[in-house]
Amino acid sequence: MNVAIYPGSFDPITNGHLDIIKRAHRIFDKLIVGVLINSSKTPLFSAQERVKMIQNICKDLKKVEVISFNGLLIDVAAQQGATVIVRGLRAITDFDYELQLSQTNKVIAPDIETIFLNTNLKYSYLSSSIVKEIAFYNGDISEFVDEDVAKEIKKKIAAKRS
Ligand code: PNS
Repeated sequence: MNVAIYPGSFDPITNGHLDIIKRAHRIFDKLIVGVLINSSKTPLFSAQERVKMIQNICKDLKKVEVISFNGLLIDVAAQQGATVIVRGLRAITDFDYELQLSQTNKVIAPDIETIFLNTNLKYSYLSSSIVKEIAFYNGDISEFVDEDVAKEIKKKIAAKRS
């Protein structure tokens, strides 16, 4: 069985991420979406909340499983039986970091391949940080995230303000 893992912070999941998930879902027998728990950034949503949001919007994608993880990505990939890491590439600005990540992972786990899916042009400018910033200033984020995710972002920002 061809198992892949799509790792990320997903704080929160955007339509750009969702597009990558849908396309990778067509390629692999099973796609694990791995939500990073510990990040140097302080996330808006807990890992559990991020997992729940992704599970909700991916409920019709039967080959998708959503997990949270701590530690090295290649260890989680091995535990999950994933031989491929999927990452989305938006623009040339992503390239340095993504190359560094994939080359390091290749040295420590030579049997695991990283593949890049180019982000849909429609979402090539999009990031979770931008979405949060727009939402923080009460801007319209309906083009950028799923309806349920937008509601959760607004709720979270309102709770933070009160
Ligand atoms: O969405 P992001 O924040 O760009 O995702 C980054 C992620 C989760 C893929 C990366 O930080 C990661 O793999 N972290 C797990 C720890 C690890 O394996 N780091 C070093 C590999 S070089």
